[in-house]
Amino acid sequence: MATITIDEQQYTVEEGRNLIDAAADLGIDIPHFCYHPGLAPDGNCRMCLTEMEIRPGQFGIVTSCTIRIKDGMNFRFNSPAVLDNRKGIMEFLLINHPLDCPWCDQAGECKLQDHSFDHGRGHSRFVETKRVPPKKDLGPHITLYTTRCILCQRCTRFCDEISGTSELGVVQMGSKSEIATFEGLPLDNKMSANVADICPVGALVTKDFLYKPRIWHYEKVDTVCPGCATGCNTTLEVLHQKIYRTKPRHNEAVNGYWMCDEGRFCYHGWQDADRLTAPLMRVDGELVQATWPDAMDAAISGIRAVLDGEGDSAMGVVGSSMATNEENYLLCKLGAEAFGSPRTGLARKPDGEAWTSKSGFHIDADRTPNTRGASDMLGADSLDDLLQGIGDGTIQGLYVLGGDIGQTLSPEVAEAFRKLEFLVVHDMHRSDLADLADVVFPGTTPFEKNGTMTNAKGRVQRLNPTFPPPGGAREDGAILRYVGQRMGADLGGTEPAEILEEIAGRVEGYTGLTYDLIGDQGAMKGGEEPSEAAGG
Ligand code: SF4
Ligand code: SF4
Ligand code: FES
Repeated sequence: MATITIDEQQYTVEEGRNLIDAAADLGIDIPHFCYHPGLAPDGNCRMCLTEMEIRPGQFGIVTSCTIRIKDGMNFRFNSPAVLDNRKGIMEFLLINHPLDCPWCDQAGECKLQDHSFDHGRGHSRFVETKRVPPKKDLGPHITLYTTRCILCQRCTRFCDEISGTSELGVVQMGSKSEIATFEGLPLDNKMSANVADICPVGALVTKDFLYKPRIWHYEKVDTVCPGCATGCNTTLEVLHQKIYRTKPRHNEAVNGYWMCDEGRFCYHGWQDADRLTAPLMRVDGELVQATWPDAMDAAISGIRAVLDGEGDSAMGVVGSSMATNEENYLLCKLGAEAFGSPRTGLARKPDGEAWTSKSGFHIDADRTPNTRGASDMLGADSLDDLLQGIGDGTIQGLYVLGGDIGQTLSPEVAEAFRKLEFLVVHDMHRSDLADLADVVFPGTTPFEKNGTMTNAKGRVQRLNPTFPPPGGAREDGAILRYVGQRMGADLGGTEPAEILEEIAGRVEGYTGLTYDLIGDQGAMKGGEEPSEAAGG
């Protein structure tokens, strides 16, 4: 630790920490544009100027973002020289700015707007004609409003240091400098939309979030991306039961400050598909919409028929790597307490392509978020045992937690499921799986779930629901509990935190885990800490 002085007051801060971050830890905001804690300092915008004691009693102007804390340092954040310099920098940065805040998509979260208000002169002495370079379509996800750019180069440094793809650079010189892609090549890498998050002004914007409601209207929900087994921490922006934007949430042990484009935009797949808002049941060979009581009666009598005719072990349960630990645990409990002692399985989706960026940010080949947690709860990581049981006739019925968007069944699995006497499925859409079922219960998407998931590295993280499931769709845990009740089994607690407590007492590796311990940054299974940060 180091003792430093700021405006004649002494503070103890971490030795070696960047001055902007150390001041932020103390609740002091040093205005800045080009500095970002996930990127190397560049010192180009000059907004963070401060006075530092260089020799005893002698202060000089320095950039805060390039200062690392050492014991005994002495700063003046609010001297007349500092305040005057800030005003000058603000006036300079606004020389060519179009001042189009009323229709800029960044309004409400724009550092230029904020710093202009707090540190600007309130007027400009620039009377010459402003430059008006045209806006540029940079790539599939990003547009550059060139006039708004303050050339802080966060975006170019992101492409150099983090994605490692180096598409962006500064072209021209002096007042004609502009951000551009080389030779008109697109900004098209797996993490490209992060540049819109870190652009401190409204210059880089995602096409997905153009002309949307103003940012102060949204409710923000902290959760976890369901796009792959990395489990990036995210914040969803939600209005009127609709997701408008996903942004990465900082977690040094998982995703740093970043997320991939596939995960960022994956909510469209779930949100834009037709939802099941009522149960379905098979009548005269056709799946038809049913009321909850009718569908529940059909499910219970179908399950009972299998158990009565073929014995307890004839009904298997299939968990889901799209479902939470608590849902998979309740499914297992339903199997054990209501169906006798059934066999368990986990339906796995074929892997995608794994990718690791220059900085170490990783997209997992497993494009589901909770394979590790589901298999911990189920004690199974494939369908092999159940398929064998169907093949040899010992399994006659299945209860399947479905729920993956665009889920397709392999011909082998589809053929096996067709042989079943009775199939109950939870799903959110009509899918290959739902189409084979005798009863389909409409469940929740990962964005509506409340519970925990375990990422590929064993980090248990919390999901928070954005809004309740639509229409007659229900939380999967509630459906499982009700089926249990109808079968004469009490599955226990209704809150995910209570179920996790039970899991902590029964499932190996989860001992001691509680909602409080997991918090908003997650906790490792078995109390371990990850060997390396994944965020880059
Ligand atoms: S586009 Fe944004 S991030 Fe890039 S240099 Fe301009 S202001 Fe900075
Ligand atoms: S790496 Fe995986 S978890 Fe992270 S944003 Fe991409 S898809 Fe989502
Ligand atoms: S934030 Fe320090 S010079 Fe830009």
